[in-house]
Amino acid sequence: VQAQNVSQSDLAGLRTGFDQKASRSWSLPARAYVEPGYLEAERKAIFHKSWQYVCHKEKLAKPGDYLAFDLQGQSLVAVRGKDGELRAFYNVCLHRAHELLSGEGNVRMITCPYHAWVYQLDGALRVARRSDQIENFETSEYCLKSVQIEEFLNLIFVNLDPDAAPLAEQSGGLADDVRSWAPDLDQLTHAHRIEYTIKSNWKSVVDNFLECYHCPIAHKDFCDLVDMDTYSVETFGIYSSHLAQAGKKADNTAYGTDGASVQDHAVWWLWPNVCLLRYPGTGNMMVLNVVPIDHETTYETYDFYFTDSEPTESQWEAIKYVDEVLQREDIDIVESVQRGMSTPAFDRGRFMVDPDGSGLSEHGVHHFHGLVLDALDPPAKG
Ligand code: FES
Ligand SMILES: [Fe+2]
Repeated sequence: VQAQNVSQSDLAGLRTGFDQKASRSWSLPARAYVEPGYLEAERKAIFHKSWQYVCHKEKLAKPGDYLAFDLQGQSLVAVRGKDGELRAFYNVCLHRAHELLSGEGNVRMITCPYHAWVYQLDGALRVARRSDQIENFETSEYCLKSVQIEEFLNLIFVNLDPDAAPLAEQSGGLADDVRSWAPDLDQLTHAHRIEYTIKSNWKSVVDNFLECYHCPIAHKDFCDLVDMDTYSVETFGIYSSHLAQAGKKADNTAYGTDGASVQDHAVWWLWPNVCLLRYPGTGNMMVLNVVPIDHETTYETYDFYFTDSEPTESQWEAIKYVDEVLQREDIDIVESVQRGMSTPAFDRGRFMVDPDGSGLSEHGVHHFHGLVLDALDPPAKG
């Protein structure tokens, strides 16, 4: 497929067949999943305008702690200042645009590796070598270009849109809801990460996450772990919740939950690409981040937060189940969907929804597609 820019009218054309009412609506067309131009548009309209997960706040706990990272082609750095403030900047020197920091670590000052301009942790330029030789140069007039950063549920998020409302405000009742299901959230620490490179468009990964219509077919063990009769999906503004009670079977085939302190399954998706998961077992939270690499490749990280940084035997069992069973099942699915969407045999599909908002209903996917359309083709104001 040739990399080709899509026009605003191409983006508006994605709305054809979409209806605000899920039971009447068609899904996003296949071209939005298989043509690279649409990902370019999504980078600008979605990933550079929404709150993006960076890491747990414990990673940047001390003054001078920093983490450099890429956000869809934009080099950024998050750093804790001497004053304790968390800040984020474009990781770009104001002299000739060399990147400043790489990886993670702790610094007292930010020194550019190219010509050694020195910045304070609040972004202010401190020293520019030989600048006293030139005219009209005021060191104090230079400051790294800052980016919005926010701690939310102990996680750090950044947003490249300077006008974006705070995540805590945009996300309405999400923080309260998560805390009500995870009262031990503040005790949790990073314990493990699994990573995947998936041959599929990022939206297929999210689509698949947002419905459990496929669960009884694809995830037999999962349907023992939770009681599918109690599974419900609710959509709110920029997130959705997916809740279910523990399965009734004494011994499920997913992993042991004997004596588990957490019985229920509570999962949230947050626009556009982050999922928070609380599974049956011991105190836990998982953060799933879905990152497009290109239009047909997605990088996924699965961070496990437990009360201890060393997982227990039963926690390893749960991690193994997620990694070796659940994730494999879902990855096979979305890679097959990508191959299917790349044929002329498929353009759009319908949403199998029910009025009860059950776990088998696909209204969560319809909600996501509506948000994608509103980002790519903003509705006229007024
Ligand atoms: S590019 Fe950073 S000091 Fe020259
Ligand atoms: Fe699945």
